[in-house]
Amino acid sequence: TAPLRIALAGLGTVGTGVIRLIEANGAMIAQRAGRPIIVSAISARDRSRDRGIDLAAYPWYDQPEQLAALDDIDCVVEMIGGSDGTALELARKSLASGKSFVTANKAMIAHHGMELAKAAETGNLSLRYEAAVAGGIPVIKGLRDGASANRIERVYGILNGTCNYVLTEMEKHGRAFDDVLKDAQEIGYAEADPSFDIDGVDAAHKLAILAALSFGKALDFEGVEIDGIRHIMAADIGQAKALGYRIRLLGMARIDDGKLFQRVNPYLVPENHPLAHIDGSTNAVVAEGNFSGRLMFQGAGAGEGPTASAVVADLIDIARGDAGTVFATPASKMEPCERAESGNRIGK
Ligand code: NDP
Ligand code: HSE
Repeated sequence: TAPLRIALAGLGTVGTGVIRLIEANGAMIAQRAGRPIIVSAISARDRSRDRGIDLAAYPWYDQPEQLAALDDIDCVVEMIGGSDGTALELARKSLASGKSFVTANKAMIAHHGMELAKAAETGNLSLRYEAAVAGGIPVIKGLRDGASANRIERVYGILNGTCNYVLTEMEKHGRAFDDVLKDAQEIGYAEADPSFDIDGVDAAHKLAILAALSFGKALDFEGVEIDGIRHIMAADIGQAKALGYRIRLLGMARIDDGKLFQRVNPYLVPENHPLAHIDGSTNAVVAEGNFSGRLMFQGAGAGEGPTASAVVADLIDIARGDAGTVFATPASKMEPCERAESGNRIGK
């Protein structure tokens, strides 16, 4: 059977992870997908950079956008990042030229997901973004496919591995905020600009995606109220602990009286709540379905291996010919939803 020929844009933490995973598990993946997945082109900024991996066998392109124009590519995989610019141009051009598109880029999906989803649906192409939310946890697939028979009433959870790692290390080992954040950057958890993590924006990108997926309403990133963990002091964590709580950065979305409520904020989580025990870079997403009941998805929320695992799972679906929908609802049917006022949440 003809292989699925893929082009990789971005060879940082996630991109090199995808190459390592395909090199390690390629034979098994070919068996499961029914055909091999072959890396036929790669692109990043700096060709001379040592990435700790031998790239000599892979054709290199200096400009990511060149990948969209290649005739012998079935699917472009974007692991560059950024809501606009190169990543967005690549997405638009890849879909316009009839290629499937896989991305780990939550910022781009949160800002332009409706446009890209409509382009994919019009062209009958796959647009997949499992890695964009909660790293290695198959939460997009879980909500889009596994829970698709339910009316989802609430979705919430720990959506940023960097913040959870920082809060956990500060609490458990008394480490300084800046020191732990530096660690998170070195390990590869943090965004290129880590203020997206600590100011709650990355969690908000993910929350907006989860809300659209869960409620069937148009993505509304601008409607997320956002606060991060920059102002949390060691003393706050100690005081919370003394009172029987842990501080966790949570994203919460629900429909209140037909209006969409979305908020990212540090919360005091009681020690007897499961989310209080999600430590380190682990993420957890809870969704409440009207027939399924409470579903909880938990696992590694960031880092090379888990994120590569999610990207390649999307590729396996595409290799199998399982185009699916982008969200649980066709994008053309997802109407904008009025925003709930913050004050409405009191008493709910
Ligand atoms: P990195 O910063 O490690 O890698 C980014 C890659 O993109 C680099 O290879 C860089 O090239 C390349 N790049 C950046 N700008 C350009 C450009 N203008 N033209 C060409 N190439 C460019 O990021 P990550 O791998 O951590 O993240 C990639 C994406 O995955 C982001 O959208 C991120 O949000 C998302 N993500 C990351 C996770 C993680 O745990 N790290 C988890 C889930 C999603 P060069 O190397 O030459 O500089
Ligand atoms: N910077 C993100 C995080 C990567 O820390 O959760 C995973 O999306």
